[in-house]
Amino acid sequence: MDMNQAIMLLTHTTFFFLMQTTCRSSDTISVHQNISDGETIVSGNAKFELGFFSPGSSKSRYLGIWFKNTSPQMVVWVANRETPLIDSSGAVKLDNQGNLSIVNGSGKVVWSSNSSASGTYIDLVAQLLDTGNLVIKNGNKTNDEIVIWQSFDYPGDTSLAGMKLGKNFITGRETYQTSWRSAEDPSPGEYTLKVLAVKGKFQQVYLRRSSVIETRVGPYNGISFSGPANYAPDANPTAVSYVIENQNEIYIIYISKSNTSTLRVIVTPNGKLEIWVIKFPNPEWMLIATSPVDYCDNYGVCGPYGICTTATSPNCGCLKGFELKHADETSPNNNTSVCRRSIALDCGPGEGFLKFSSVKLPDTENAVFSSNMSLLDCEVACRNNCSCTAYANPNITPGGLGCLLWYGGLIDIRVFPQRGQDLYVRLAASELLELNSIFRRRKQVVLVVTLSISAVLTLLGLILALYIRRKWKKSSGSSSQMVNAEVPLFGLSRISRATNAFSVENKLGEGGFGPVYKGVLEEGQEIAVKRLSTSSQQGLDEFKNEVICIAKLQHRNLVKLLGYCIQGDEKMLIYEYMLNKSLDSFLYDESKKLLLDWPPRFHIIHGIARGLLYLHQDSRLKVVHRDLKSGNILLDHHMRPKIADFGLARMFKEDESEANTKRVVGTLGYISPEYATNGLYSVKSDIFSFGVLVLEIVSGKKNRGFVHEDHDDNLLGHAWRLYKEGRSLDLIDECLRASYSTCEVLRSVHIGLLCVQQRAKDRPDTPAVVAMLSGEGSSLPSPKRPAFFIHQEGEIKSTSTTPLLSVNGVTLSQVDCR
Ligand SMILES: *[C@@H]1O[C@H](CO)[C@@H](O)[C@H](O)[C@H]1NC(C)=O
Ligand SMILES: *[C@@H]1O[C@H](CO)[C@@H](O)[C@H](O)[C@H]1NC(C)=O
Ligand SMILES: *[C@@H]1O[C@H](CO)[C@@H](O)[C@H](O)[C@H]1NC(C)=O
Ligand SMILES: *[C@@H]1O[C@H](CO)[C@@H](O)[C@H](O)[C@H]1NC(C)=O
Ligand SMILES: *[C@@H]1O[C@H](CO)[C@@H](O)[C@H](O)[C@H]1NC(C)=O
Ligand SMILES: *[C@@H]1O[C@H](CO)[C@@H](O)[C@H](O)[C@H]1NC(C)=O
Ligand SMILES: *[C@@H]1O[C@H](CO)[C@@H](O)[C@H](O)[C@H]1NC(C)=O
Ligand SMILES: *[C@@H]1O[C@H](CO)[C@@H](O)[C@H](O)[C@H]1NC(C)=O
Ligand SMILES: *[C@@H]1O[C@H](CO)[C@@H](O)[C@H](O)[C@H]1NC(C)=O
Ligand SMILES: *[C@@H]1O[C@H](CO)[C@@H](O)[C@H](O)[C@H]1NC(C)=O
Repeated sequence: MDMNQAIMLLTHTTFFFLMQTTCRSSDTISVHQNISDGETIVSGNAKFELGFFSPGSSKSRYLGIWFKNTSPQMVVWVANRETPLIDSSGAVKLDNQGNLSIVNGSGKVVWSSNSSASGTYIDLVAQLLDTGNLVIKNGNKTNDEIVIWQSFDYPGDTSLAGMKLGKNFITGRETYQTSWRSAEDPSPGEYTLKVLAVKGKFQQVYLRRSSVIETRVGPYNGISFSGPANYAPDANPTAVSYVIENQNEIYIIYISKSNTSTLRVIVTPNGKLEIWVIKFPNPEWMLIATSPVDYCDNYGVCGPYGICTTATSPNCGCLKGFELKHADETSPNNNTSVCRRSIALDCGPGEGFLKFSSVKLPDTENAVFSSNMSLLDCEVACRNNCSCTAYANPNITPGGLGCLLWYGGLIDIRVFPQRGQDLYVRLAASELLELNSIFRRRKQVVLVVTLSISAVLTLLGLILALYIRRKWKKSSGSSSQMVNAEVPLFGLSRISRATNAFSVENKLGEGGFGPVYKGVLEEGQEIAVKRLSTSSQQGLDEFKNEVICIAKLQHRNLVKLLGYCIQGDEKMLIYEYMLNKSLDSFLYDESKKLLLDWPPRFHIIHGIARGLLYLHQDSRLKVVHRDLKSGNILLDHHMRPKIADFGLARMFKEDESEANTKRVVGTLGYISPEYATNGLYSVKSDIFSFGVLVLEIVSGKKNRGFVHEDHDDNLLGHAWRLYKEGRSLDLIDECLRASYSTCEVLRSVHIGLLCVQQRAKDRPDTPAVVAMLSGEGSSLPSPKRPAFFIHQEGEIKSTSTTPLLSVNGVTLSQVDCR
């Protein structure tokens, strides 16, 4: 190792190496050969290194394996966890039986693998593989290689791709991860990460402190484990996990999909499960998920039949059909409350199931799993056994089968907006009747106020939380510099810290006005930072004014502006972070689109219309968006739509450079004909874009790039053809077939077509759109042939590079918003 490298290691690592390590060219230890302290062996492609080390400021010496050339240095395995050497006089050696030992300076054995080869081999070696696995095997015979022992069978606090975690029923041995006692002491600590590994049960992973479950990862949904809460499998193209179950063993394993990145999962001494990724050639570790991450990650916090959500305060509630009752009615002093059925089950014929969507399925310890049953068979099986309390299909792969039947309490349920699943819970006949009639009578009412302790408590909690928030906001407000009571100014350094210095990993995407980054403020709040491209000639005061104007646009269907930042050339807007990203990430993704069945889609259409109505009419500013598209519709954790990038066109209206104008102008596939050809825009051009959006939401297809085998029309033309033939229902997305409402779909398509009429005056105005969506007025006007020109890319480009005579005085008016 050269000097620079050594210095780099020392500055980046918490591990201090007493000696300068000597690099051997070999990746093996052979019989009668010593690796003494100071020497290391390096795996084939130099990914891993084995040698002696001391953690932190400890003087003790351990034999370990660590990632070579990454920072900070990560030890993945330790041999003599409990029996350290006290100085650097020790060595490792392999005997001719295949037994690997660590001896101290006096020749005393402190650790040995206790492995022994049956038979005689003349070429036994211990080899460090590029997977990080140390194997003892018969050396060079690649054909009939026999592995006598491997470190992967004895995990420490870290698992790596290719390692099996689970149970072998032949040997009875369980492999699991155990935390270190502390950062300086690798001996086994209190925390373990274990697979359930019981035959006939559905596999999931528990993080325990001693014998108490702290948090539960999973269950496995056919693609990945559905937890930790902040883990996005999409963000991790590095590895894919599997559950393997056969006669002899049950284990989970993850396989690396890429040779340019590596994953490791660690249980830290303070009881966190962490998933780290490194992408070469950049040798920096990045934390991509951790658990427990919030209150609801604590195992079973809300008790049996409770449900946890981070969206309200208090976080705990009872499942519908259950209410808080005294835990022990016979003992009046015991005032602990637990969720109990509002109406007891009697196993009568009218009993049925209520569906809970987007939840983390309860602990499968109480459940029985059958792999090849359909959801219908699953329901029948649960109905037929009176002690079955709930059922679900845990498998989210398209067409995936599987049936989980719970007997007894349902514990550790949480609302899980991103990767939650459907759970069907058994309720009494009268309970179901009541819930159904409430739904029918009060369709529009958001909250069904049950006169139960839980509802009152929840309400009180909410009011309290709001009050505290207000107070907190007020007090924190006064400490930061303000231009306006509602729009705090953020320092560049704070934003930079929050976004890891605008790192590529934090980048969420690139909008018309510049890139957007995800960030986390010190106090834990997640934000989205829009870094405006610097080419705008706008002055500082004008910018501030615009920010204040935009901040006044507040509506539940608009993304909320939290603050801004101006420093040097940098101008940034800080928005609330939207957990579910943008609508297009769902609509056009084969697996994610399954999460959006018809009711949420219809709500999204409604929400966008209401947001638009506010922008166009109800706000004091009257703003035309000019770039309404699925990528600018963000979804919060309840899948509620929020329009993004509104009002930005205002900021760039003067002295625009041509490049800017081109980006501001809109997006192919969504721009109205009069805007594309003459640069005229008005609220009616937003209505046109809205119409396109509606047809896209219904069909799950993009207008731009739409192809059909029978004709060359785009999506609008296709929708028009079907409409004329009375086949509008054929437009719907395949995956909606089970959930749509005929009347709502027909109405949406009809309104969509009205909005994309060729002539602006034929399109409805925004209040009319909202009214039509709500079903007011029984008959809708008939649409004419929509503007469905077949786009040639060149055509549109040539019109958009001509300078736009943009400002239409009526709409983007000279509203003085001070
Ligand atoms: C291995 O180390 C032992 C002491 O631990 C020493 O006696 C022996 O000579 C060493 N063997 C080799 C091959 O270096
Ligand atoms: C080796 O271990 C033995 C037994 O624990 C101990 O007595 C001896 O002092 C140790 N020698 C060195 C050099 O650590
Ligand atoms: C491995 O070596 C150690 C130390 O020499 C010894 O105590 C142990 O019994 C050996 N194990 C086997 C299986 O040979
Ligand atoms: C190897 O065997 C020895 C003696 O039986 C035992 O003390 C030691 O814990 C074993 N080592 C491992 C790594 O299991
Ligand atoms: C394996 O075989 C190659 C040549 O066949 C030889 O150079 C090498 O030293 C051998 N390695 C071991 C560990 O025996
Ligand atoms: C990574 O994999 C690709 C394709 O499998 C291969 O072409 C490339 O050489 C590999 N790179 C390394 C560093 O192994
Ligand atoms: C209260 O009742 C619950 C449920 O019956 C029981 O688990 C708990 O131990 C009781 N607590 C006290 C303090 O009696
Ligand atoms: C529960 O009872 C204890 C005493 O038995 C009392 O101190 C406590 O305030 C009660 N809690 C509630 C929520 O009523
Ligand atoms: C499920 O699989 C088992 C064994 O493979 C088979 O016996 C059974 O008939 C299957 N059940 C269904 C409903 O397909
Ligand atoms: C219901 O299921 C439980 C648990 O699997 C089983 O023990 C019981 O025998 C079943 N009852 C009936 C009537 O099938």
